[in-house]
Amino acid sequence: MADPLPGGWGWDEPAFLAAARRVAGLAAGHLAGLRDQPVLTPVPVPVAERWRQQDWPADGVELDRLLAEVERDVLPHPLGNGHPRFHAWVNSPPDRVGVLADLLASAMNPSCAGGNQALVHLERLVIRWLAGMVGLPPGAGGLLVSGGSLATVTALAAARQAGAGYDIRELGLAGQPPLTVYAGGEAHSCVTKAVELLGLGRRHLHVLPGHRLDPGRLDRELDAARRRGERPVAVVATAGSTSTGAIDPLEEIADVCARHQVWLHVDGSYGAPAVLTDRYRARLAGLGRADSIAVDPHKWLYVPVDAGALLVRDPERLRAAFSLVPAYLAVDHDPEGISDAPWLSEYGPEQTRPPRALRVWATLASTGRSGCRRLIDHDLDLAERLAAGVSEHPDLELAATGLSVVCFRYRLGLDAAPDAGPGASDRLQTEIARRLQRDGESFLTTTEVDGRTVLRACFVNPLTTAADVDTLIRLVAAAGAGAVSVTA
Ligand SMILES: Cc1ncc(COP(=O)(O)O)c(C=O)c1O
Repeated sequence: MADPLPGGWGWDEPAFLAAARRVAGLAAGHLAGLRDQPVLTPVPVPVAERWRQQDWPADGVELDRLLAEVERDVLPHPLGNGHPRFHAWVNSPPDRVGVLADLLASAMNPSCAGGNQALVHLERLVIRWLAGMVGLPPGAGGLLVSGGSLATVTALAAARQAGAGYDIRELGLAGQPPLTVYAGGEAHSCVTKAVELLGLGRRHLHVLPGHRLDPGRLDRELDAARRRGERPVAVVATAGSTSTGAIDPLEEIADVCARHQVWLHVDGSYGAPAVLTDRYRARLAGLGRADSIAVDPHKWLYVPVDAGALLVRDPERLRAAFSLVPAYLAVDHDPEGISDAPWLSEYGPEQTRPPRALRVWATLASTGRSGCRRLIDHDLDLAERLAAGVSEHPDLELAATGLSVVCFRYRLGLDAAPDAGPGASDRLQTEIARRLQRDGESFLTTTEVDGRTVLRACFVNPLTTAADVDTLIRLVAAAGAGAVSVTA
């Protein structure tokens, strides 16, 4: 008799089902148990060392043993973002329906490069839902991508092609006038990375000072660039900065971009879904005037990672920047046949494209528009509660707030630290964050506001409660009192 096939290849349906039940049990236990665990338990050194040394087994390991290792060494050591008291960066927990959709997507395992297959249609569908959410007109399009970073580089590639004034795909950049890009002081680092990656050169990214991109200053910069013979190709506005949740004045910036005929890209990776709420609908209305928008369903729409979206007003401009169809991929447009051209791979850099659409569609459809609004409102309520608690607390002060981000600091009173030099307050905030991270009861990070280190909490978790916010305030105050003497 022939050897059985390795791995899971030999499983029949009952064997697969039995394995899937055990895996689902582990996932359910993991999700249900998070609140009772420390927010983050680092990988123990011996485990990390074992993984550094381990060879690829010559003979396959039994599923039993693999799952035992997962239960013992993998599941207990996540980043922490599933936990209700994780308040760092912009990392939400996964929607449970999205988690299950991933199993089905992997079972189908298509490349969503194109073709008349269900997940390509679902991708177009969710792109239409998201474009409608941000107010882009009918006919808008786009792609699911890995996240805000890829959305930004893809958008700026399209802006570069549209605004260079020559065929950059053919001629490249050498010997041509500088192509310039503009962003505000709180633009995400992925904008710099995109500019570098596209060969535009960091010196041609003009980061204008201030928390918000100043439309008057932008207008003058664009005039000056033209006078110098440069070609401005894109303005990147931010709708919800990572650091403080700041929103650039989108309508005014759109006016400036229209006057100069420059591509407006809005980084709404984090903040754009807040347009669903009454609190932010008007502030974010200018989203609909952008040429392109990054929105990350894996941030404030709670879709499991990865799920970014690039939305564009005119999909043909994206296609102009990326379409390249070799003979072995040439297909006709035949909506009733297998081809259904153009393929999605003509609109972006990826050829084999993962089936992100199922997790996005399942999450958005099962939560619903009003459900998403309610979940985001919940996060905004928590941020307001923290801001109010900080304002009332004698030892804390607010530094900046925006969307569901709250930046604040522990006051370093002169009587507590009469000899404190400059920088003592900055060190104190870092030390407070470090103590909280280490103790595992609540997790937040630091950022900079006006050159000063501050504590930063961001709420993107439907399971975080008002009591968790009160716990955070209590822990920061206690850590601050304990750390003053050490850092001052
Ligand atoms: C405002 C903003 N833009 C862009 C990004 C980059 O997104 P991603 O990490 O999904 O590539 C982030 C990530 O936190 C972000 O907060």
